[in-house]
Amino acid sequence: MSRRRRIYEGRAKVLFEGPEPGTLVQYFKDDASAFNNKKQGVITGKGVLNNRISEYLMSRLSEIGVPTHFVRRLNMREQLIREVEIIPIEVVVRNVAAGSLSKRFGIPEGTPLPRSIIEYYYKSEELGHPMVTEEHITAFGWAAPQDLDDMVALALRVNDYLSGLFLGIGLKLVDFKLEFGRLWEEDDMRIVLADEISPDNCRLWDIKTNEKLDKDRFRQDLGKVEEAYQEVARRLGILPEGGPGDVKGPKTLQ
Ligand code: TMP
Repeated sequence: MSRRRRIYEGRAKVLFEGPEPGTLVQYFKDDASAFNNKKQGVITGKGVLNNRISEYLMSRLSEIGVPTHFVRRLNMREQLIREVEIIPIEVVVRNVAAGSLSKRFGIPEGTPLPRSIIEYYYKSEELGHPMVTEEHITAFGWAAPQDLDDMVALALRVNDYLSGLFLGIGLKLVDFKLEFGRLWEEDDMRIVLADEISPDNCRLWDIKTNEKLDKDRFRQDLGKVEEAYQEVARRLGILPEGGPGDVKGPKTLQ
């Protein structure tokens, strides 16, 4: 077996060259980081669960007409995706005050926001992912005004759909982060949803108890981190067949 070419490695994922031109293989690791890499750790089984959870959510979104980079899951830790040109902007959608918004404006965590709020952050580790405005994004050419319009329209559709989906399984979608990419087909370009959607980049609270079932358990040392990711997968009805013991996944060739 030939070794696949590694295209990119981040803290939580690796991208390999795909089997056909225009495709990549996205590999989900158990490594976790927070506070711009100042806190690092391992959440055992996270990669397997996030691969499943992201597959499930991207597939449901695709069914309602949200274009995504997801093609299909390949195995416990890998999925086939379309190669896109990543737009260097993180789009955060917030429904309830938490995290950096609570800190910045002194709004207690859990306060419902008057309406959904969208924020943009520039994807730069060196600069610590600074918050930016539409002005910065268009003036510096990170995205064209039309790209940004498409991203906002998609982010709001994702928010409406996922808020309902999670409500149905007793979870409040407090906030989440999305990434988008440009997908080129001949001379046409479409903005599509990229990266992943999982408890790594969503805040999910139990509707009744407000228990946190997301990466804040790792960020804030709340314990039961693995269990929280499993609980989200369990409620979605997609725990790996072998249960939590199955989480190591097959050995993949790298
Ligand atoms: P924040 O409150 O820390 O700004 O995070 C808002 C949401 O965005 C939260 O669900 C976590 C997610 N997020 C990421 O996925 N990656 C990031 O680098 C940051 C800063 C936030």
